[in-house]
Amino acid sequence: MRIHFDDTNLLSEMVGEAHGVTRREIDSHLPQAKQALASFRKAFDEERYGFPALPFDSVMAKAVREYAKSAWASYDTVCLVGIGGSALGAWAVDCALRGPHPLQKPYSATHPRLIVLDNVDPDLTGAALEVMNPKRTLVAVVAKSGATAETAANFLVVRDWMGRALGRKAARRIVAVTSPGQGDLARLAEREGYATFPIPLNVGGRFSVLSAAGLVPAALLGINILKLLKGAAAMTQQCWQPDLEANIALKGALLHYLIWQRKGKTIHVAFPYSNRLWGAAFWFRQLWAESLGKAKTRKGEAVHTGQTPVAALGTTDQHSQVQLYMEGPNDKVFTFWRLRKHRTPGKISKKRIGLEAFDYLAGSSLETLLEAERSAAAASLALNGRPNCTLELDRLDEEHLAAFLQLFMFQTAFMGELLDVNAFDQEGVEMGKRFTFGLMNRPGFESYRQEFEQYEQKRRQAGG
Ligand code: PA5
Repeated sequence: MRIHFDDTNLLSEMVGEAHGVTRREIDSHLPQAKQALASFRKAFDEERYGFPALPFDSVMAKAVREYAKSAWASYDTVCLVGIGGSALGAWAVDCALRGPHPLQKPYSATHPRLIVLDNVDPDLTGAALEVMNPKRTLVAVVAKSGATAETAANFLVVRDWMGRALGRKAARRIVAVTSPGQGDLARLAEREGYATFPIPLNVGGRFSVLSAAGLVPAALLGINILKLLKGAAAMTQQCWQPDLEANIALKGALLHYLIWQRKGKTIHVAFPYSNRLWGAAFWFRQLWAESLGKAKTRKGEAVHTGQTPVAALGTTDQHSQVQLYMEGPNDKVFTFWRLRKHRTPGKISKKRIGLEAFDYLAGSSLETLLEAERSAAAASLALNGRPNCTLELDRLDEEHLAAFLQLFMFQTAFMGELLDVNAFDQEGVEMGKRFTFGLMNRPGFESYRQEFEQYEQKRRQAGG
């Protein structure tokens, strides 16, 4: 497994001192980076945060594999009901390892498809029910809290649909992944006899892709989860190294911290040049936004900090976003995600057709063109004083993918330490969840309904 971080275009030598990091700035912040590593390590050793331990949980891996093996070939569709961290990881893994949606191989009992219900758009759920066969569907309901409104609602719809087709046998086609022994999903699973897997209490939703939340759907799709864990374990060892050259998560955190805090780059564009990494870009967007967008430091000082993550796809978005990136406000930092080797190079025929716009491509390949366009974009941005860097994966297999995801989780945790914010809570999300419960008349949330009614009154007074 090899992931390389090319940070050259973040340096002042390339993009100027106003926009790039100087070596002096890096050196003077090295103690802060080391401190970030030490304090996150301490928190991990005290078991406050658990994601770094997940790749080493062989007991969980064995149980998940056995469950998946027992169900294998009895379904052609895995219907994942979950949202946020309980859905994005599985989607990223599926997209990376089984091909970009919707261009996967035809689905069958030995090549099941993944359908994700991560929204309560009735047209999404309705369309899913129309195309799935309840007798050939395995439902994975994933919710750390066991109480998220969207997941609960979608699950009630899907459970009913399964029950109508299968009666009592429906319970055998449902697996629940949730916090062990707490929350209403765990209670329902126990009451109805679903297979269940735990998400450790010290692993938050967006850090849970390598827990049962991501592993159960992955294993049900036939993905080798042992290889996933192997790659993530190797990256974990690297991420505990104090040497910045060995620890690209720590180096990435420090450089992005300086670029953001010192050079004012408040937008972080994740720019995969791979459709298979498009799911991972959306997964990253949640990780970076929810973990680092915070009102207060851990000491309680108001900061309203956050770096807005944007997902852009190369080369597609060169024809959509790059005009803005090149000439608009210089408030962004770009991270290109490059695959050195694709599944297929996409060879272009050597035959010339006598037309200049086509003939220079003869004998080349889509892979070569893709990389030419990526390095051209990186060069143009750098020459225009726009800092950018590249994360390069030798190839996209289970080991590289999981290492890549683990790298970002560590980078995010280190960034939280550098900013002195709690990267593992999400108070801002909780408020909306509580208002929703109030509006949907969930007992215990009446005060949120009242607060919402006051807001509505204010709107009416304002003429709305
Ligand atoms: O990262 C998080 O904690 C959140 O984004 C959750 O994943 C999301 O809110 C879904 O929560 P749950 O898994 O409890 O349904």
